Amino acid sequence: MAKSAIISIGAYVPSKILSNDDLSRMMDTNDEWIRTRTGIQQRHIALPEETTASMSFEAADAALRGAHMSAEDLDWILLCTDTPEMWTPATACFVQECLKATHASAIDLTGGCAGFLQTLELADALARQQKTVMVIGTELLSRSMDWSDRNTAVLFGDGAGAVIVSPSRDAGIQLTHSRTFSDGSQADILQKPYGGTRNPIPPEIVASGGHHRIHMEGKKVFRQAVYRMANAAHQVLQDTNTSPEDIDWVVPHQANQRILDAVAGELHLPTSKVFSHVRHYANTGSASVILALADMILKGLLEPNQRLVSVAFGDGFSWGSALWDVTSLPPAEFLGRDM
Ligand code: UT7
Repeated sequence: MAKSAIISIGAYVPSKILSNDDLSRMMDTNDEWIRTRTGIQQRHIALPEETTASMSFEAADAALRGAHMSAEDLDWILLCTDTPEMWTPATACFVQECLKATHASAIDLTGGCAGFLQTLELADALARQQKTVMVIGTELLSRSMDWSDRNTAVLFGDGAGAVIVSPSRDAGIQLTHSRTFSDGSQADILQKPYGGTRNPIPPEIVASGGHHRIHMEGKKVFRQAVYRMANAAHQVLQDTNTSPEDIDWVVPHQANQRILDAVAGELHLPTSKVFSHVRHYANTGSASVILALADMILKGLLEPNQRLVSVAFGDGFSWGSALWDVTSLPPAEFLGRDM
């Protein structure tokens, strides 16, 4: 069966940077705690006029530029986010309109931090049917934070990534194999509980802005994230008869440096093979794997004939892993990137 590939990458982070020291003036925390527990030094935060759709548009437009494609060439826009523009319509429709992607069908998916890998699996199936798909992972998490909750607020940042997936022409990053999973029985550990049909929003929660806020039990997430990501990677390697020594890079969801180091240990790989830029961007949810991939290309870390394993874990719980083969380097543009 024909393969599909990532043929272009666009990424965007807002220009405003919030450092750990800035946070220590907003809540009872400090740079030393955040660095040692998470590896994070700063995060990019959307300006008031920015929205999920506007950041997504920047990333998608950059991906189209790189591919020398017109938005009219797109058959689908699949947008993954936990922080949509509004309840309805789909954020993907706002992006479709901004791009003038007049032939594209546009829809949102919600998969948490693993959402990009899940969405990519769907895009792969479409691309194998000769469709050209824009996959966007995007998150404006700073508007879902309780800025007085030091346990959670220090961990996240804003950003958007976009990849164009198309039938392979022996170019780009081939989507060789992937396995993704979900376990809804653990939904209460990491969720944004208010605003849907299950939990009516009490007036006092609206008054405090709490209806937007993420609830997370960090320790439980930590343990599950390490175990699940490593397990998914092992399955992908096993399915493809690949040994860990054949892997040139792990491209992980950028959750927390301690999680990444622990995943390296579980996979018996040196931490130097697990890409991390979490210190610059923190956890950008659905966007994070795309930001990592773009940064790796721009840093000159990727080259043809390399094998990459991506891993991700997030709310749901959902998690997964993908094996990618670099045939040729796709163009990558990363707007707002820290050098
Ligand atoms: O995509 C997945 C998204 N989620 C994650 O990646 C989160 C995964 N979990 C984690 O990364 C870690 O569990 C955290 C970074 C959230 C917490 O690290 P920890 O080592 O598990 O710390 P802890 O929860 O055991 O807290 C230790 C102490 C507590 O104080 P007491 O009770 O011992 O006095 C916390 O109140 O650290 C305190 N603490 C803080 N102190 C300063 C918690 N947050 C902060 C903070 N600054 N920001």
